[in-house]
Amino acid sequence: MVENKIIDGKAVAKRIRLEIARETEAVKQMGIEPCLAVIIVGNNPASRVYVNNKKNSCAEVGIKSLEYALPEETTEEELLTLIDTLNADDSVHGILVQLPLPKQISEQKVIEHIVPSKDVDCFHPYSAGKLFTGAPVFEPCTPSGIMELIYESGIEIAGSECVVVGRSNIVGKPMAMLLLAANGTVTVAHSKTPELKAVCKRADILIVAIGKAKFINADYVKEGAVVIDVGMNRDENGKLCGDVDFDSVYGKCGAITPVPGGVGPMTITILLRNTLRAAKESKNK
Ligand code: GUN
Repeated sequence: MVENKIIDGKAVAKRIRLEIARETEAVKQMGIEPCLAVIIVGNNPASRVYVNNKKNSCAEVGIKSLEYALPEETTEEELLTLIDTLNADDSVHGILVQLPLPKQISEQKVIEHIVPSKDVDCFHPYSAGKLFTGAPVFEPCTPSGIMELIYESGIEIAGSECVVVGRSNIVGKPMAMLLLAANGTVTVAHSKTPELKAVCKRADILIVAIGKAKFINADYVKEGAVVIDVGMNRDENGKLCGDVDFDSVYGKCGAITPVPGGVGPMTITILLRNTLRAAKESKNK
């Protein structure tokens, strides 16, 4: 077994969070307390876990967090009014509305209501457009976290064939933009892609975000490829697992992220980094 073949997301996250904590302290010395407002609507149990993780992670690095827990029956207007208040509040640097939202509320409308200078999720069309043109306001959290893990693996992105499986606005599309910006040769594949196995097998860097437990096995992987697993599923025994069949792929790949302990810890780490950056930039307003 080759040591360090498993890319340790927890260790990378810890390293970056130590740096964030140090910088947060320095920003506080300058009289600014970085602050993230987190809004959760309704009783989705997974959302509750994510929001708790975000709040705990903020506390860990010294960033202040405010939680707004609204009832399931909240109207769109009520939520937009709260966002107006937070947009106008200079002591709030980042605003995050946990998705999904109850069906009476348009997610797109809500995302577009957050002022881009506080859009730490990088979901606003303005932020997405900036990313598209190579000048992001904030970093898209999961894809930027994945970039850190790719750097950790030691592979050179420039000149590599990169295949992203999945085309969501949160992961697949922004991931492709970051890899392109780093001079990768990028293919975005998805559920309607013919010959998916052959396409994946071209990849030096294979990123999988499809939400299907253990879907990608060794037949999809080129010998020595770096494999990044964004999935978070439960297997037949209720155990957490990714979109990649780890046991099948491990012997063939060059490096792989585990689930849990791979991409997961990175997403919130980048959210913290964005909030710190928003706080720093608020000084220049
Ligand atoms: N729901 C699932 N992932 C995310 C995320 O990264 N941000 C927000 N706001 N909601 C989510």
